[in-house]
Amino acid sequence: MDLNLAGKHALVCGSSQGIGKACALELASLGANVTLFSRNQTALEAVKTELDTSQGQQHNVLVADFSQPEQVKTAINNFITEQHSFEILINNTGGPAPGLAINSDANAFVNAFNLHLVSNHHIVQALTPNMKSKGYGRIINVISTSVKQPLNGLGVSNTIRGAVASWAKTLANELGEFSITVNNVLPGATATARLDAIIAGKAKKQNISIEQATINEKNIIPMRRFAKPEEFAAAAAFLASPAAGYITGINLPVDGGRTSCL
Ligand SMILES: NC(=O)c1ccc[n+]([C@@H]2O[C@H](COP(=O)([O-])OP(=O)(O)OC[C@H]3O[C@@H](n4cnc5c(N)ncnc54)[C@H](OP(=O)(O)O)[C@@H]3O)[C@@H](O)[C@H]2O)c1
Repeated sequence: MDLNLAGKHALVCGSSQGIGKACALELASLGANVTLFSRNQTALEAVKTELDTSQGQQHNVLVADFSQPEQVKTAINNFITEQHSFEILINNTGGPAPGLAINSDANAFVNAFNLHLVSNHHIVQALTPNMKSKGYGRIINVISTSVKQPLNGLGVSNTIRGAVASWAKTLANELGEFSITVNNVLPGATATARLDAIIAGKAKKQNISIEQATINEKNIIPMRRFAKPEEFAAAAAFLASPAAGYITGINLPVDGGRTSCL
């Protein structure tokens, strides 16, 4: 099985911590040159020092706020003009604030749409010309299992994740003929700062300890534990590899079996 990414260039969004960072580490370990892309330059520079360089990989850092799509568009287009091009894209950013859909301000949906879909779209439009000319493209979107089964208490997130999944499936149909695959990887409960915040919120709301809220979350997962970020990254890296060249348009949960539908 060909998992070799030597000579490939990967843009990894939301990579200063958590799932995105784990993806960046995994892609670099398979030989890719990685560009880390999010808001916190200091944190990104620190991650950059952890990336594998044993095959001569060159890594970079790019900064923009994905809640400002025009900023993202300018940053990525300027970067590409400076002779950078990519065959692999991991679309990822911070999750919307929790809360019931019915109580959410209408602007929260607009903001989340900008953060998760419009910014992704600017990046895809900037990167696909090179993917087409190389005859190799891998677009991987980090979404959520809520694409398959809405999660209680994540009203804005559930809504926007569905839009991102439909956008991705449409792109898979449009870009397949250019050997560009578009796939969604859906994290379940993954041990990151985002999960800590969600569990703390549930503990407060239910007036239980964080320890009890953690046990409750694990008990609804057949594997009875949270994912390590690197377990998610392994799935994303496989989809980025030559070995996954005929897989496109899918939603792949990495959730320890938590999603109860087929
Ligand atoms: N962890 C889970 O259990 C879980 C489950 C389901 C879905 N998800 C989703 O998977 C994605 C990644 O989750 P995670 O747990 O790794 O989250 P995380 O630990 O909160 O990390 C989020 C990453 O996104 C970046 N980011 C946040 N807001 C941004 C913005 N406005 N512009 C640019 N970058 C931004 C952050 O970097 P900077 O601060 O440097 O910008 C950070 O690197 C999220 O969408 C999350 O909702 C996670």
